[in-house]
Amino acid sequence: MKKIIDEYKGKKVLITGGLGFIGSNIAQSLVALGAKVTILDNLAPLYGGNWFNIKEITDKISTITGDIRDKDLVEKLVVDKDIIFNLAAQVSHIDSGNIPFEDLDINCRGHLTVLETCRHLNTKAKIVFSSSRLALGKILENPVTENHPANPLSLYGVHKLAAEKYYYLYHKNYGLNTAVLRITNPYGERQQIKHSKYSIPGWFMRLAMENKTIKIFGDGKQKRDYIHISDLVEAFLAVAISPKTAGELYNCGSGKSVEFKKMAELVVKKVGSGNIEYVPWPENYEKEETGNFETDISKIMKATDWKPEVKLEEGIARMCDYYKKNKKEYVGE
Ligand SMILES: NC(=O)c1ccc[n+]([C@@H]2O[C@H](COP(=O)([O-])OP(=O)(O)OC[C@H]3O[C@@H](n4cnc5c(N)ncnc54)[C@H](O)[C@@H]3O)[C@@H](O)[C@H]2O)c1
Repeated sequence: MKKIIDEYKGKKVLITGGLGFIGSNIAQSLVALGAKVTILDNLAPLYGGNWFNIKEITDKISTITGDIRDKDLVEKLVVDKDIIFNLAAQVSHIDSGNIPFEDLDINCRGHLTVLETCRHLNTKAKIVFSSSRLALGKILENPVTENHPANPLSLYGVHKLAAEKYYYLYHKNYGLNTAVLRITNPYGERQQIKHSKYSIPGWFMRLAMENKTIKIFGDGKQKRDYIHISDLVEAFLAVAISPKTAGELYNCGSGKSVEFKKMAELVVKKVGSGNIEYVPWPENYEKEETGNFETDISKIMKATDWKPEVKLEEGIARMCDYYKKNKKEYVGE
């Protein structure tokens, strides 16, 4: 990580969606590395944007409350940046069916706005996009490589897939220095725990802390690849400074899968309260079930010196310590 420390000193970095889970953790690391950080976030109530996420660094960064679809604002913000982490999103695959045009507007038009603006005003910036494993849909073969067929099962997945293609196209046709991380199941400190529409480990942690019942659909044996936020942040930082990543897409997970119920059991064990109940799949959920997911992370590890380090048990323990101290800042009580 020495290379990362040297590379980020003095760099001007924009993080869209930077008050949310992943963006704010990236911001915390960047400030420690000496970067000049600007956050653009619209704090839409459905998502994880939270001033508390940047409490320790508020006076060291610049934070703008605004929208990635606001072309005039985006023009002002991208023009002098060295690196842009473009994370702002409608994040819930469940909600994407209820608010399809909002999902399209943020996850496609919003991202196109940033790319178009860079095309005209800043072709030098590195632009890193956070895509999702849900761009792939039903998993046919594990471990999942970057070449796995993509047939998304939700509008969220369709729009993430379209955005992945925008980033590639703007690299190929206009020479922008883009890269895409296709993220599996991230978890950890600063994750939203307001609702169960995404970031399930956080939601389960809240239920356990309130000594409530965690409901698992089916037998809970479906496998997922959970990546702790500290590993994910390092992956973003490594990809953004690597000269080999222009125009590329990388899977980003832990490279190991565990059964969903194991994650829930670990949460209950670490928190020390709550319980688990198995219930039948609601009809609509099963339609969007991808099947087991384990990520092949060899491509990102070859392109950078990154490798995941945090085991699920340790990551859940860190998360548990964090929410035991700070839960009230996340649940609005
Ligand atoms: N959390 C996950 O499970 C997961 C998994 C894979 C990929 N991702 C992707 O990672 C990125 C970050 O997600 P997260 O987990 O940090 O979610 P989050 O909800 O914590 O953060 C998203 C942030 O984007 C902001 N935002 C939403 N629309 C905006 C807009 N139009 N303009 C400006 N800001 C806007 C929200 O206010 C929020 O702060 C997203 O692109 C998401 O799709 C997340």
